[in-house]
Amino acid sequence: MSEPQRLTVFYDGACPLCRREIAFYRGRRGAETVTWCDVSTVDAPEVTDGLSRDAALARFHVRDASGRLMSGGAAFARLWEEMPAFRSLGRAFRHPPLRWLIDRSYDLFLHLRPGLQWLARRAEDDRAEDDRAEDGRSRIAGSETDGAVRPKWLVRDLRSDHAGETGAVAIYRGILTVTRNEEIRRFAEAHLETERRHLADIEAVLPPRDRSRCLPLWRVAGFLTGALPALFGPRAVYATIAAVETFVDRHYAEQIERLDPEGAHAALRALLETCRLDEVHHRDEAREALDAEPGALMTLWCRTVGSGSALAVALARRV
Ligand SMILES: [Fe+2]
Ligand SMILES: [Fe+2]
Repeated sequence: MSEPQRLTVFYDGACPLCRREIAFYRGRRGAETVTWCDVSTVDAPEVTDGLSRDAALARFHVRDASGRLMSGGAAFARLWEEMPAFRSLGRAFRHPPLRWLIDRSYDLFLHLRPGLQWLARRAEDDRAEDDRAEDGRSRIAGSETDGAVRPKWLVRDLRSDHAGETGAVAIYRGILTVTRNEEIRRFAEAHLETERRHLADIEAVLPPRDRSRCLPLWRVAGFLTGALPALFGPRAVYATIAAVETFVDRHYAEQIERLDPEGAHAALRALLETCRLDEVHHRDEAREALDAEPGALMTLWCRTVGSGSALAVALARRV
């Protein structure tokens, strides 16, 4: 017998950020008891009693079995209560100081949402454009430091790689600024050396005119990504590094897959593969050092780090 539906979630399926977020929750245990309503596909001016389509597109809403409608941060906290992995976190956010915090965080996100949506849509467009111009020869915009003209997608990806390695150096600087833990310091110092080498190697093949104009932003973002978890101890640091490196491995792998090992950019491909293998090693080292599964809050933080990395790549590919 199927379980009764306890909660209905109203989200904007036309928004790439919301789609990604909802896909994450739909893959978790507990999702089967939730009804998922994509408001963008609803034609009527009202999606449910007391909730207009416009209001539902502007803010995340949920309705529980008793008919109570909640929106914003409170709605997320209510959704977490449905998922065993996040239940304790959802219950904690019922209490006033935390409720206030999650509501304000969601309101802040709403201010940033148009910019983040723009970035996420550009990333999707870029991918479609790259796929159309598979070898990129029709869209040349590149530098010729390795003797071959680089397609536009490759210059963009290298720009994001350079931004990423700049951020990686800053992550370990952030960790080392905060932590006094000897084990973490050794881990961060060893990784910092590798990241400095990656940065130097990418700088050697990417002229300054092709680099991101937002490098100060990547340094600050990287520093905070290292410093914040370092305040909470080794487990938070290892979980964060594992999340970052999981993303970076995929990002490098996608580029390597597109380059022909015997082609004009073979040397560049080999460099990217060397970097990728180091990142995989960093990821595995961090995973092995984790002595327990990350808790609900850490899972959400790591997810934020992964999404933030994806948006940073989308921006760095362009600017
Ligand atoms: Fe790196
Ligand atoms: Fe790394």
